[in-house]
Amino acid sequence: MTEPGTAVPTTPGAPTRIGRYPVSRRLGAGAFATVWLGRDTDFDVDVAIKVLADNWAADPAIRERFLTEAKFLRRIRDRRVVHVYGIGTLDDGRPYFVMDHLDAGSLEDLRRSGVAPAEALRLCAEAARGLEVLHRHHVVHRDVTPGNLLLTSRPDGSLAVVVADLGVARSVMDSSAGAMVVGTPPTWPPSRPTAGRWTLGPTSTHCARWRTRCSPAARRSRC
Ligand SMILES: Nc1ncnc2c1ncn2[C@@H]1O[C@H](COP(=O)(O)OP(=O)(O)O)[C@@H](O)[C@H]1O
Ligand SMILES: [Mg+2]
Repeated sequence: MTEPGTAVPTTPGAPTRIGRYPVSRRLGAGAFATVWLGRDTDFDVDVAIKVLADNWAADPAIRERFLTEAKFLRRIRDRRVVHVYGIGTLDDGRPYFVMDHLDAGSLEDLRRSGVAPAEALRLCAEAARGLEVLHRHHVVHRDVTPGNLLLTSRPDGSLAVVVADLGVARSVMDSSAGAMVVGTPPTWPPSRPTAGRWTLGPTSTHCARWRTRCSPAARRSRC
């Protein structure tokens, strides 16, 4: 966590500031965007700022999709879906949006560090409830992966799942999106590639196998 008003870049090439937010380090990156840890000094909280990659910012379709992601996330106000509360454009024309910072990594990070199967399945059930929130808003995620299911710690120390990365999501009210196959390949479901809720199946299977990936020491203490 950064002190209010300070910028402490720790990632080479990190911007020192995005809009009104001092930036401290990179949180993650995907094919189209990079997410930075920033500080909202007005509210005194950390924020995550997703910036479209410069090689994509000039592509109108990708730019549009990026802004659609921000609008979906802004519209859905639920603790199970990451909340967007700001949007802007850098001097070089790249769009960005500002989200709540989720402080406990992703399901994928947890898988790597080892977690008890019962806890893994509890988190998958939480993820399903998050996807249900999207569906109530007529939004299909289409890229459900352990890396796109983020975690936040509750005051009692337990973890809660927050659905993120609606980069390829679409509204079922929009009939123009067609049946194009999108998403992260390993979790494509065999039968319904465009329906987010079905991709939770492979994700959960992945979670249920976590125990076998734990080291003996981790198994004794956590699995
Ligand atoms: N709100 C957030 N809080 C903390 N980390 C985040 C947040 N949003 C994204 N990240 C990190 O950045 C990574 C990439 O973000 P994501 O939205 O999945 O981008 P992409 O569309 O490029 O895959 C995530 O896997 C996660 O590690
Ligand atoms: Mg992602």
